[in-house]
Amino acid sequence: MTIRISGTGSALPQRTVTNTELTELVDTSDQWIRERTGIGERRISTGETVAALAADACRQALNMAGKTASEVELILVATCTPELLLPCCGCQVQSMLGASQAAAFDLNAACAGFLFALDTVYAYLKAGIYRNALVVGSEVISKLVDWSDRSTCVLFGDGAGAVFVEAANEDVICENGRTAGVEALLQGADGSKGSVLSCQERPVQNPFLPEQPEACAGPYVHMDGREVYKFATRQVPACILAALEQAELTVEDVDLFLLHQANERIIAAAAKRLGAELDKFPMNLQRLGNMSSATIPVLLDELNRAGRIHKGDRLVLSGFGAGLTYGATVLVWG
Ligand code: UT7
Repeated sequence: MTIRISGTGSALPQRTVTNTELTELVDTSDQWIRERTGIGERRISTGETVAALAADACRQALNMAGKTASEVELILVATCTPELLLPCCGCQVQSMLGASQAAAFDLNAACAGFLFALDTVYAYLKAGIYRNALVVGSEVISKLVDWSDRSTCVLFGDGAGAVFVEAANEDVICENGRTAGVEALLQGADGSKGSVLSCQERPVQNPFLPEQPEACAGPYVHMDGREVYKFATRQVPACILAALEQAELTVEDVDLFLLHQANERIIAAAAKRLGAELDKFPMNLQRLGNMSSATIPVLLDELNRAGRIHKGDRLVLSGFGAGLTYGATVLVWG
């Protein structure tokens, strides 16, 4: 048994915000943002919700797969920015799609969320519990951003990406002889580094505390950018190499590396450490910024629709995020 991604989709807010517009909010410049991150502009929600973006992306993925919402068995939404604490975003999406037969829930592994969700769905499908699933990464991270903090507000964007995944009972052998499906996956977390990238929301608060806590500073992203940078440039290549080793593959066996789109310099450093050509690392962060869990599925959808992914291509998906979390999945497109 293996899995096949038979549909991809993505959805972005209408409003584009350029670096120049941000210079009106904080002491920054287009040059600084481009040189340090590669980002030129991003989409920011002016009303689009995490759930609505997710549902739009799912509709496209279902359409491409030639499936109806009623055929969906599971919806797993990776998000760290849901509108509601209850019910979960997955259930909102289920209702919006009319996917009444689907189980639905959320998963939060921050920017690595989509990868963790894909791996989770792979395990469900492999165990025979479900036969198909929508896997989504959707974020409106702009609502967690302190728009007066130049060290974070220039980095992020909003958006959603989704894939429709189906179980394949028989091996699909591609023309190049590769067997389609997941070849290896690796997930990791280092909770001791949680404070490096965090966002406060609800501290313990009730009438029974001996002392009432100070008011929460605000639910804004707080980040030690240099620490995250160091972690990412070390951990992402190490994780990719370990996943490739699991599958008895080398860097040369990979056609495309789809990395979390946080910073062009992080991606270039990972490519260098791996000894791989940078043109195997497609990027869209120049246009979209860091959309947290949505970056990888949006990039996958853009490449798929542009005809840049072919049957038999070996892809490595890899990301990192708050937690700190990280992961890599090796798969052959089928
Ligand atoms: O999904 C995971 C999310 N997080 C990440 O991926 C973040 C990983 N880290 C990074 O991408 C980089 O560390 C940043 C892009 C956040 C920052 O780049 P950097 O080269 O590490 O810059 P820095 O933090 O060392 O700051 C250099 C200078 C500082 O000024 P001084 O102390 O040298 O005078 C900052 O205050 O740049 C200043 N600075 C800015 N200047 C203009 C910080 N943000 C800005 C800004 N515009 N937006």
